[in-house]
Amino acid sequence: MPFHKITAADISHFSSILDARYVHTDSEQISRCASDQTEDLHYPPEVVLQPGSTEEVSSIMKYCNEQRIPVTPRGAGTGLSGGALPVFGGVALDMKRFNKILHIDKRNFQVTTEPGVITQELQEQLKAEGLFYPPDPASKGSCFIGGNVSENSGGPRAVKYGVVKDYVLNLEIVLPDGQVIWTGANVLKNATGYNLTQLIVGSEGTLAVITKIVLRLIPAVKHDLLLLVPFRSPVEACAAVNAIFLAGYTPSALEFMERDALEWSMRYVQSTGISLPEDIAAHLLIEVDGNHTDELYRDAEAISQIVQQYDIGEILFADSHEQKQMLWTLRRKVGEAVKSNSIYKEEDTVVPRAELPELLQIIKKLGKEYGFRSVCYGHAGDGNLHVNIVKGEMSDDDWKTKLPLGIRQLFKEVTRLGGTLSGEHGIGLVQKEYMDIAFSETQLLLMRQIKQVFDPNGILNPGKILINP
Ligand code: LAC
Ligand code: ZN
Repeated sequence: MPFHKITAADISHFSSILDARYVHTDSEQISRCASDQTEDLHYPPEVVLQPGSTEEVSSIMKYCNEQRIPVTPRGAGTGLSGGALPVFGGVALDMKRFNKILHIDKRNFQVTTEPGVITQELQEQLKAEGLFYPPDPASKGSCFIGGNVSENSGGPRAVKYGVVKDYVLNLEIVLPDGQVIWTGANVLKNATGYNLTQLIVGSEGTLAVITKIVLRLIPAVKHDLLLLVPFRSPVEACAAVNAIFLAGYTPSALEFMERDALEWSMRYVQSTGISLPEDIAAHLLIEVDGNHTDELYRDAEAISQIVQQYDIGEILFADSHEQKQMLWTLRRKVGEAVKSNSIYKEEDTVVPRAELPELLQIIKKLGKEYGFRSVCYGHAGDGNLHVNIVKGEMSDDDWKTKLPLGIRQLFKEVTRLGGTLSGEHGIGLVQKEYMDIAFSETQLLLMRQIKQVFDPNGILNPGKILINP
């Protein structure tokens, strides 16, 4: 069914639901909500609405559902799979006014928050209370917790503490027809019926609009130590990752960066903080955390013994706050650095951890076959490798037609290794054409049917995750 184009009558209806200050059709707001951090994609909405309450979201959804107006929920716009792009125009539902932490329940180690709170701000407020919410996507300083829930984000700490889904207990959501429900209960265990909460987590704004989030918390951890280990062979760096786990250690972060990733990031943030000898081809950034520093030093020492089996350079032990900050900034800025350097595509491959060395070799082999250059980095401890394919010298034609064949081949190899298309960035717009590699027709049909049940008119974030929903 074709979508309804927004008219002056619709705008005046929206202005009866919301204060007119929160109904935007000016080019600045339209253009802001036309893109996120995915490549250089641009899909303008027809109107930007900024609701401030669940009731307002409900009224907007009810109207848009009746009128067949597409609605694309938007957090901070830091997504990397195009989840917030209004590909069919319509309403961009900007959730930035949902910016309150509603209740820190210290007694039960829980927090209830609105979705438009910046993840790092939430973490800092919780830390001040002795509480810890671990998931830390690279964009934690600007992304919203609601976007994190919608994408089931990860980040470096996932290797020890798990991803967003492991912390979400309950959600208040607005269904596409405007009904408001809670998905579960504020409890640590729940064996009561189908798990609606976890169905919404990672559904990329295609099933419902999240208006409140209840998260489980853990006690704050007091100390950490950080090691930067230079390797002469990137494949050996990947092999060392598993050796650390097999020896019985679980670092709180275990990140991999190819030489280009670190070098580009250093240039991007204009850092001269570390030396990068010619023969170094990759690094592992390894963090251990806990409440007793003597144990941490022992673990760091043991891990450095393990990596000595490989051809490595001099290990940098960072124990000062400044040094740790510098290393984490370099790691967190890799994505932005690559983006600033060239037109690129980012794949979010994930394989069982022990298969990481093979994955890296396959990526480089396919690069030769299909003529692309890649810069790889990511959460090696999770088997989650971000593959940045840079356009560089590739012709426009090859970029458009040959590269997708190479990416298809890459995902086939990833699934052969037991992996899948995305570890933490989601499918959104840019990976949906590859879903047939990860799922059979029966699996895809089940997903389409779930979408139908929630959103029979297909108005909520259309064009995402599934082809022909
Ligand atoms: C990172 C983002 C891109 O790990 O996921 O830097
Ligand atoms: Zn990442």
